[in-house]
Amino acid sequence: MSQTSENNAGQVESALLRTLIDSLPDVIYVKDDKGRKIIANHADVASLGLSGEEEVIGKTDLELLEGSVGERCYRDDMDIISTGKPIVNKEEFFFDADGKQQWLLTTKIPVQDAGGKTSHILGIGHNITRRKQHEESLRKLNDELSSQTEELTKLNEQLTLQKEQETEKAIAQGKFEIASEILHDIGNALVGFGAYLNRINRILEKGNLKAVTNLSLFIGNQQGVLANALGADKANALLALTEGIAKTQTENNAEFSASVNELLNITAHIQEILNIQRQFVAGREGQQQRKPVNLVNIISDCRSMLLASLEKKRIKLHANIAPGTFIIKGDHTKLMQVILNVLKNSVEAIDMEADEKDINISLRADGTLIELKVKDNGKGFSPETGARLFERGFTTKSNGTGLGLYNCRSIIESHAGEFNIASPGVDHGAEVNIVFNQEEN
Ligand SMILES: Nc1ncnc2c1ncn2[C@@H]1O[C@H](COP(=O)(O)OP(=O)(O)O)[C@@H](O)[C@H]1O
Ligand SMILES: [Mg+2]
Repeated sequence: MSQTSENNAGQVESALLRTLIDSLPDVIYVKDDKGRKIIANHADVASLGLSGEEEVIGKTDLELLEGSVGERCYRDDMDIISTGKPIVNKEEFFFDADGKQQWLLTTKIPVQDAGGKTSHILGIGHNITRRKQHEESLRKLNDELSSQTEELTKLNEQLTLQKEQETEKAIAQGKFEIASEILHDIGNALVGFGAYLNRINRILEKGNLKAVTNLSLFIGNQQGVLANALGADKANALLALTEGIAKTQTENNAEFSASVNELLNITAHIQEILNIQRQFVAGREGQQQRKPVNLVNIISDCRSMLLASLEKKRIKLHANIAPGTFIIKGDHTKLMQVILNVLKNSVEAIDMEADEKDINISLRADGTLIELKVKDNGKGFSPETGARLFERGFTTKSNGTGLGLYNCRSIIESHAGEFNIASPGVDHGAEVNIVFNQEEN
């Protein structure tokens, strides 16, 4: 083959190779030992955002690529030149002309000259941006899935906990219901017991004591007549006998009635404790009623309930109710408990022997406020005692529980009200002051 035809064949081959590398979608380039591009295919030129190979030839990656990306690629090139070691399938990124991140799978092969020195770098880069994006979205999906799984696990734990708590609550609720029923039954039994004690008391009061006493008086008065009829000895014996019976009967009666009164006290005490327990149970169940309650009715109900003990001690109860309606939302039973406690305290504070024995209840409205006062002229209390009255369990009575005022205050406060008690001093009576705010209530 002649020289020219060899040249021609070489030119054809080179043109064919050139067409081949230009039509491949992968980036293909050749660099010299200074890292300067001497061949760049269409894909390479396009990936740099340029339009002609002449804009690329003679330039290193430092000039062709931005900042740190350019530095990284140039460093790799220089390493290959100095070590003669290729870089195979390295995943690396750069930013295209639009600033979008692109990923290449790069292979750079060193080419040695006749002396064995690396004189060129042959590079090929396959665009793997789509794959990377897929991988990225898969990774994100995976992250999201694992965080959702974590959340689900947490939710599941919470649900389990909630279930356990609900079960515990249900058990507690059951216990409270049973407790509440038991308290109710004991309460009913006590009411019956108290009624019997009262009956015994009445029988004792009405009993034949008077008859026996009258009989012995009669026999004493008629001693002369009886002595004539029966003889002095027998008449005297009869008198002694009837006097003895009357005396024993009087002593027995006194003892009976003291015992019965003591039993009544104990019953009242137990009832008070029961009420407190009931309130506790109801509180735990969160069952405070919130229905319209007429305070006037409460006062008159309490008055009827205490009528017997008021009459017994000859205490006068005056009610001074201003015109208007006195309705609040609340729990009828609990509010009655408050007023009964307060009135009972007043009754207990009033001395049997006092000349004036009065309890005054007053009810009036002031704007949205309702003011309920209970004033007595009983024995009152000192400022030192006054400071301790709301302590749970504080009492000055031998048979007191010290729970009355404590409960009164907590019941009134649960009705958005205020409860206070004051006394001008010992022997100067006491006044309870209850204020409800209809707006807050
Ligand atoms: N109207 C009142 N007059 C004088 N002292 C009172 C009055 N009300 C309550 N107290 C005093 O407050 C104390 C506590 O009352 P309370 O809590 O009802 O318990 P208790 O009646 O069982 O003693 C009583 O022991 C008494 O000393
Ligand atoms: Mg009391």
